[in-house]
Amino acid sequence: MTDRAELYARLPLLESDGWWVELARAAPLGRVLELGAGTGRLTRALLGAGLEVEAVEQDPAMLSALRALDHPRLQVVEADAAELGEGPAAGLVALPAALLNELPDAAARRRVLAAAARRCHPQGQLALHLLGPWWLVRLPTRSTGRLHPADGGPSVDVTVSGAELDAWGARSRATLSYCFADGTVLRDQLDAAVISPTELCGVLDAAGLEVVERYGSVPPARPCIDDVAWHVLARPRP
Ligand SMILES: C[S@@+](CC[C@H](N)C(=O)[O-])C[C@H]1O[C@@H](n2cnc3c(N)ncnc32)[C@H](O)[C@@H]1O
Repeated sequence: MTDRAELYARLPLLESDGWWVELARAAPLGRVLELGAGTGRLTRALLGAGLEVEAVEQDPAMLSALRALDHPRLQVVEADAAELGEGPAAGLVALPAALLNELPDAAARRRVLAAAARRCHPQGQLALHLLGPWWLVRLPTRSTGRLHPADGGPSVDVTVSGAELDAWGARSRATLSYCFADGTVLRDQLDAAVISPTELCGVLDAAGLEVVERYGSVPPARPCIDDVAWHVLARPRP
């Protein structure tokens, strides 16, 4: 297992993650398309809620953890989400954990959203999580934060270090160190596109999607300038 897969296999569901499960339960068809599913952190919660899940991932270490879930309602698809082919419609298309920020450029973001829109049921919704653009732009060289697990378990401390803003490329890069309650520290490299609300609305519009609602770090709170993350709900334009 790579360091990144080990980290995501260990990270708990967070307070804010209940949002995806509630949306998926209310969506038509009982079927979710999850893009960038990682080791299946959210996938397991969706399966636990009785949903059928198509989980798309491209990283080999993440894929082997996903396949190990071996669940009758889970279909694991090895693919670049930007190249996702035809398939059954989903009532909810989920882009969790800053997938859009991780993509290399605006063209890839357009392709992923176009693929997501093609697979979204006409009465369905698309939910996405992105890193707060103003948080990314103002990230100090070093800072700390804390993740609160949904089950009230021990929190995970996160230290951001060596943060740098590539002002022309509009990307923030940093090392994220996650410190778990037993003292284990696992690291991930942040390389995140700064996605402004204007760009996001533009790419959603180009994919035939319209924004239904926008939230801050923990829905239903409203988006604020200091939020680490935002959550956005969109739907196919009638
Ligand atoms: C930050 S991790 C989050 C994993 C999981 N969603 C979670 O919340 O635990 C982002 C995941 O997206 C995957 N990913 C990034 N770009 C992708 C792409 N173009 N197609 C498919 N998966 C991608 C990465 O391999 C990684 O597993």
